[in-house]
Amino acid sequence: MLQDQITQYTAEINAFDTTSADELEQFRIRFLGTKGIIKDVFDEFKAVSPEEKRTLGKVLNEFKQLAEAKYQALNETTASSKLKTENSQLDMTLPGEGFEVGARHPLALVRREIIEIFNKLGFSVAEGPEIEDDWHNFSALNFPEEHPARDMQDTFFIKKGGEKGDIALRTHTSSVQVRMMEAGQPPFRALMPGRVYRNEAISARAHCFFHQVEGLYVDENVSFADLKQTLFYFVQELYGEGTKVRFRPSYFPFTEPSAEMDISCTICKGDGCQMCKHSGWVEILGCGMVDPNVLENCGIDSKKYSGFAFGMGIERIANLKYVIKDLRLFSENDVRFLKQYKSAII
Ligand code: PHE
Repeated sequence: MLQDQITQYTAEINAFDTTSADELEQFRIRFLGTKGIIKDVFDEFKAVSPEEKRTLGKVLNEFKQLAEAKYQALNETTASSKLKTENSQLDMTLPGEGFEVGARHPLALVRREIIEIFNKLGFSVAEGPEIEDDWHNFSALNFPEEHPARDMQDTFFIKKGGEKGDIALRTHTSSVQVRMMEAGQPPFRALMPGRVYRNEAISARAHCFFHQVEGLYVDENVSFADLKQTLFYFVQELYGEGTKVRFRPSYFPFTEPSAEMDISCTICKGDGCQMCKHSGWVEILGCGMVDPNVLENCGIDSKKYSGFAFGMGIERIANLKYVIKDLRLFSENDVRFLKQYKSAII
């Protein structure tokens, strides 16, 4: 009896073929399921006589293997054909899903550009704290006691009278130059990028913080000619060859002589426009030869060494590059503004 049933089922399995996943699933339930035929025949097998068991056991096992092999073989073909029908519905001409790439902040782009130019001249990058003491922000830099920059008007003071004087938010990154010179001996050739704070009312043209890149070069026999040539090279690299520079005498407590550097207006190329107030020139940085007092304050022999320093506001440089009329845009985090400045370098 059992033998006959198995012969019949074997014929059925051998004849079975499908590409449908549903039909195959029905096949699996019918033969291999927990209440399926295989389970049934094995249950019946328990009741057969011991003589029959010997031959029938082998037949049953082969039957079970046949059903499993059939299921596995068909499962592979239906799975791959399922994939094929899905793939055939793919329209390769449809546009892909957009991939949003973030944008660099314009100030970060300009800062990096400045650093890359000076890197070529061997300048490294130095950083220091934004919360500074009076010594590093003012005294070491030769600011007289009564200098107006120390006034509450310009400086955000945090605490009166620390070990090295009042604690304040740094007003420039010249403080990092002091820290660098105190920590070693020349030659120094470095840039000091960073955020600085000044107590000004926030408007389109002024903010209570901004960003600077200052630079310092100290070695034997450094001259004002080195300063001029270095800054001239910088401007040609940043704004293109043919950009003119001019130096106007100025005053900073920490440099002597001091100058302010103008460049020919990058917007109108010197013809006169709103940006340069029709003068053809725009100021971009302050500079000068490091005052010997500053070198001595930092433990450097001013008879042996000389140096130059300069400092610029990154916002100003970015404005001349991108014509950003309102300073507040830089810190408002308006994505519509920020995502305009996609950079090729990520
Ligand atoms: N520290 C000056 C400022 O913040 C800039 C400067 C740096 C000028 C170095 C001369 C030399 O305005």
